[in-house]
Amino acid sequence: MSTRMRRRMALLMTCLLAALLYGCTDERETPTVRVGVALYQQDDTFISTVVQQLEQRIKEEERARGIKINVTLADARSSQSAQNEQVDRFLDRGYDVICVNIVDRTAAAVIVDKAQAAQTPVIFFNREPVEEDLERWEGAYYVGSKAARAGQLQGGIVLDAWREDPAALDRNGDGVLQYVMLEGEPGHQDALLRTEYSIKTLMTAGVPTEKLANDTADWQRGLAAVRMQQWLERYGREIEVVFANNDDMALGAIDACLAAGMETDELPFIVGVDATPPALEALAAGTLQGTVRNDAAGQAESMTALICALLDGEDPAQAVTLEDGKYVWLEYTTVTREDLEALPAG
Ligand code: BGC
Ligand code: CA
Repeated sequence: MSTRMRRRMALLMTCLLAALLYGCTDERETPTVRVGVALYQQDDTFISTVVQQLEQRIKEEERARGIKINVTLADARSSQSAQNEQVDRFLDRGYDVICVNIVDRTAAAVIVDKAQAAQTPVIFFNREPVEEDLERWEGAYYVGSKAARAGQLQGGIVLDAWREDPAALDRNGDGVLQYVMLEGEPGHQDALLRTEYSIKTLMTAGVPTEKLANDTADWQRGLAAVRMQQWLERYGREIEVVFANNDDMALGAIDACLAAGMETDELPFIVGVDATPPALEALAAGTLQGTVRNDAAGQAESMTALICALLDGEDPAQAVTLEDGKYVWLEYTTVTREDLEALPAG
């Protein structure tokens, strides 16, 4: 534990003791810690779910500990330089822990070095920094899910459907799956690996595939609808499967199909990732065929456990399962229509 952290802890303990001895519940006496959360883009559907869950968990901790944990959000709006300034501000103001949803995965070194200089632990999440950058300091962590796994599970949904009723997917009956791929931001680990492993899963299982088109839609529903509309004009019913790196883009593809006048049973086989509430609605409605649950609640839970361990000056490995001393991995799970009822609420 750093000296600064130790001092902060000692202060906390003194305040708590004072509160116990003298029963002073005065606002001024309540010990306060500060957590800065830097987001690549606050209105991203999945990120906003993680943030909501995080704020909820932190509130529970506040109640349980009788302290104040102030969470300050900063939205980088996809600008790494804006994010660097936001992180600087957190560090200058002496925040106790910072969480960073980094804009550019290759730009973490600067942040890790600054956090180390300030001796402020940094928890990256959802957007995985390159390994060497994270290795620069033991006070840097990552909470996320293994991107390749989401791709395998998404490919698995299509594979199961193909095995069950190939003719339902192979609409032109040529024995080959014609597909289009809606990709997330270029360079994001989830875009690269979900794209790669979804198709690899089908290839490994011996299902012949043919890519009709692929393009980035930056995780966004509106952009995905535009891409899909163009592909529909070009390929029409030749598109048998739509792989989308996330649910928002899968929903965009559905929007385009419906806008083109297709009935629900005429839609291609569309799959996403995340299991956001609107995606689960589409799954129930029969327009989306499957998704892969990106565990927002689990990520928020792990981040909270890590934050608390760091604030308490405890060994983080006692609070969460840590791989290589820095990584907390959450599992992805397949969600198809049959799984819907069994899905835990939230
Ligand atoms: C999610 C996307 C999200 C992205 C943001 C991914 O893990 O699946 O929905 O847009 O993270 O970084
Ligand atoms: Ca075919």
